[in-house]
Amino acid sequence: MNTQLLFQDPATFSTGMLAVFAVDLAVGKDADPHPVLLTTSDGIARAAERFLASGEFKAGLCETLLLHAPAGLRAERLLIIGLGKAKKLSIDEVRKGAGCAVRFAKPRGIRDVSVAFPEDHALSDEHLESLPCELTARALVEGGELAEPDWDTYKSDRKDQSVWALHLLVQETERKTIEEMQRGFDEGLILASAQNFARSLVNEPGNVLTPTVLGERAQWMCGEFGIECEVYSTEKLKELGMGAFAAVAQGSSEPPALIVMTYTPPGEIAEDAPVFGLVGKGITFDTGGISIKPAENMDKMKYDMAGAAAMIGAMRAIAAFKPAVKVIGIVCSAENMPDGNAFKPGDVVKTMSGKTIEIINTDAEGRLVLADGLHFARTLGCTHLIDAATLTGACVIALGYLNVGVFSNDDATWSKFLSVLPSTGEHYWRLPCTDDYRDAIKSQIADMVNSASRAGGAINAAILLKEIAQDTPWLHLDIAGCAWNEEVKPWLPKGPTGIAVRSIVEWVRSY
Ligand code: BES
Ligand code: MN
Ligand code: ZN
Repeated sequence: MNTQLLFQDPATFSTGMLAVFAVDLAVGKDADPHPVLLTTSDGIARAAERFLASGEFKAGLCETLLLHAPAGLRAERLLIIGLGKAKKLSIDEVRKGAGCAVRFAKPRGIRDVSVAFPEDHALSDEHLESLPCELTARALVEGGELAEPDWDTYKSDRKDQSVWALHLLVQETERKTIEEMQRGFDEGLILASAQNFARSLVNEPGNVLTPTVLGERAQWMCGEFGIECEVYSTEKLKELGMGAFAAVAQGSSEPPALIVMTYTPPGEIAEDAPVFGLVGKGITFDTGGISIKPAENMDKMKYDMAGAAAMIGAMRAIAAFKPAVKVIGIVCSAENMPDGNAFKPGDVVKTMSGKTIEIINTDAEGRLVLADGLHFARTLGCTHLIDAATLTGACVIALGYLNVGVFSNDDATWSKFLSVLPSTGEHYWRLPCTDDYRDAIKSQIADMVNSASRAGGAINAAILLKEIAQDTPWLHLDIAGCAWNEEVKPWLPKGPTGIAVRSIVEWVRSY
């Protein structure tokens, strides 16, 4: 899809479908809906007037009203998209609204979509503040770009329903806002393309995307974006002493991949500048190993590399933004299989950090590969660590599908992360991993166990990782519930979400 920001009057722009947003001004539960358009275009207002007055459209979030051959407009169709109550309006609704425009067009074969930039003159100052130009532009591109792909890659009768062009139309504005809008637009395009790249990796089935292929795709991306990339395998794991990562990989005939992507900023780096370590869980398929999973839903476990995909996507966006900090992306990729060579419950493995882990359950493999990845990042000089992993079913039980579980050993680092979230629209909820939880992972024979009671299952995993992170500021994102969208939304297809890419990138840029 070719997405462009154009400073043109939407009323005179010829396009397959022009989308315009509307909000409901009514306050209180019993008040009649009072939809108003978020546009300064008199042409659009006139074309829509009669239909808004009819009362059939209430401007609920992603509620749509389609008009053909709208009077006085060059567009073939006018789609009015509700963004919900004016009082609750934020850029999150704008992002969804833009997505909704693209998703509406696709099945109808409309190739060319335009969106009237939401102008807020109908709203009070309080509402105005909720839609700053730069973030609104960013949200529009993100929403549109993320809505475009349909993850039906391997259907032989796949119909081409792609939207070819998306135009964001800004009617008239001051010079300063033009620059802000352009900046937001450019940022949104970088973030959304990186996120779509991550999604394309997660979408691939386990037989296509093996650890080796994941390494190849990372290498290819890094080549395009000027990132240094090394991909290692079994020999290197042995050499580095990554006994936990190697144990997970040993039951598969597919060799593991340790992917190391290094972004070095172009200019000079300040002496006290942070060095970021982005560590991703890249289990390309998780059968559970000898502690094998039930057949039901096992197919979903191809997305057990979504943390790795998030980090590869984040590196891509970081290389495009070129922040003045060094960032190292580390992906620990393997296939978790049961086999004659597979690791077993009761085994004791030695991590690169020297700490030993007793294997209780081979299905708790994510923390094993991450333990070695996180320690490796520390040895490479990382001062700030973040990991992303589809780590525990327990996190899904705790938070559902809406919030990523976050764990941290450092309040300041968590605050920094929290501060970028309103602009990204992703939702995170912090869960505890205080030292008093450490007893849960005590082992009789080794330093820790890899699996403990079902109670606080997401915390048990986090506390093991915290042992490895030690005093290095660290964030752990358990994305198990948010990496795959099970239900079609008006603004998003079923399938991989690319969660965490935007927030990780914005967190790095916030330093
Ligand atoms: N990859 C799974 C976690 C998962 C479950 C991700 C559901 C997405 C959806 C992970 O490797 C796993 O199997 N975790 C176990 C840990 C347990 C054995 C301690 C789990 O959550 O059941
Ligand atoms: Mn598992
Ligand atoms: Zn797993």
